[in-house]
Amino acid sequence: MSWGLKVKDRDLISFLSAVLYYAEKGHPLPVAFKRAKCEHKIKNVNYNEVFSLAYKLTFSYNSLTGRGRKDKVRNFLSYGGTPILPNWITEELKRVNIDVDKVVHGGAQWIRVNTLKGDIDKVRKELEKAIDVFDSPLPYVFRVKERVPSEFTRSYKVLYQDLASAYVVESLKPQQGEVLLDFASSPGIKVSQYMALTENRGRVIATDVDHNRLRKELLLLRKMGVDLNRVEVINQDSSRSAIMRGDKALIDAPCSSTGIITKEPTLMIRLNQRHLISRLSKLQKSIINKAVKATEKIVYSTCSILPEEGEEVISEYEKRLETLNIDGNTGYEIYPFHDKVRRFFPGINHTDGFFIARLRIS
Ligand SMILES: C[S@@+](CC[C@H](N)C(=O)[O-])C[C@H]1O[C@@H](n2cnc3c(N)ncnc32)[C@H](O)[C@@H]1O
Repeated sequence: MSWGLKVKDRDLISFLSAVLYYAEKGHPLPVAFKRAKCEHKIKNVNYNEVFSLAYKLTFSYNSLTGRGRKDKVRNFLSYGGTPILPNWITEELKRVNIDVDKVVHGGAQWIRVNTLKGDIDKVRKELEKAIDVFDSPLPYVFRVKERVPSEFTRSYKVLYQDLASAYVVESLKPQQGEVLLDFASSPGIKVSQYMALTENRGRVIATDVDHNRLRKELLLLRKMGVDLNRVEVINQDSSRSAIMRGDKALIDAPCSSTGIITKEPTLMIRLNQRHLISRLSKLQKSIINKAVKATEKIVYSTCSILPEEGEEVISEYEKRLETLNIDGNTGYEIYPFHDKVRRFFPGINHTDGFFIARLRIS
């Protein structure tokens, strides 16, 4: 085995096992890779090629046999280093008739201009002095192929936000003066977009089960220029309590994140059992059941490619679905209401994988 990398198998296996060790500890791939590099120097190697191999390896983690990390690496290399999804995911995608390639390749990098901190045209012009900037259907979202110079992100004039994620907030049709209930709001990316679109004249009750994430959200919102007098923060389990009323609700639900595996393949390590998905699906349904008691208009979204976290969660409210007039694709066609909801895929829309639905309860 040479892998075209001119590395001894033994060195490569040790290196990739170290990457897996750090990925298993919860580090994102670039961090896991950097740590492995500190420990295992490999001579005369193109680290970009090794990174690409590490990407496919973490992606395939749950499909590999072998008890230890080294065994898993050997098993992966014996397949010729091709990324493999776990069988249960492949079967699920086959059931809804979507090509695996549409899911595992083709994402892109998107940025949002934070209009609370800068004018869209001015920021774009400034950016274009340093990097190429490409249009998107939304006037304040752009596609980039390089990293944005740090002065733009440090001043919070620009943040990385996927186009599909921006469409979630667009689906709410934000209006000044209304009260938005956000049932899972941290780290606050969508709250800040909502406040930007209402020019700081909306009101938000932002809730999350994770106290620490809520604290960070408040810091982020302040830095993004959000008027905190118009944001109330509540630490709650939204599947249990929702003693509040509002004009609209956003449920950007906790999910498997299978829609972002192209960006962060280490997510596959934690996605080791099918029953995790049923648990998430139940949690998502419980949050919707609370939200319908608190408001009449609800946008539900997940960054998941799995129907169990999309169509199957909202099917109980099928008659309450409002057709979404946004870009993207319809839902999976085996569901009768597929044309009312939206799905985004890395391999079609160059976005993260997302599911979006809007309900009108009364
Ligand atoms: C997908 S993230 C939300 C991202 C956020 N909307 C944004 O745009 O920045 C899901 C959030 O749900 C929260 N969460 C998980 N279980 C929850 C529950 N039972 N009640 C409320 N929030 C929950 C997580 O802590 C996480 O912050």
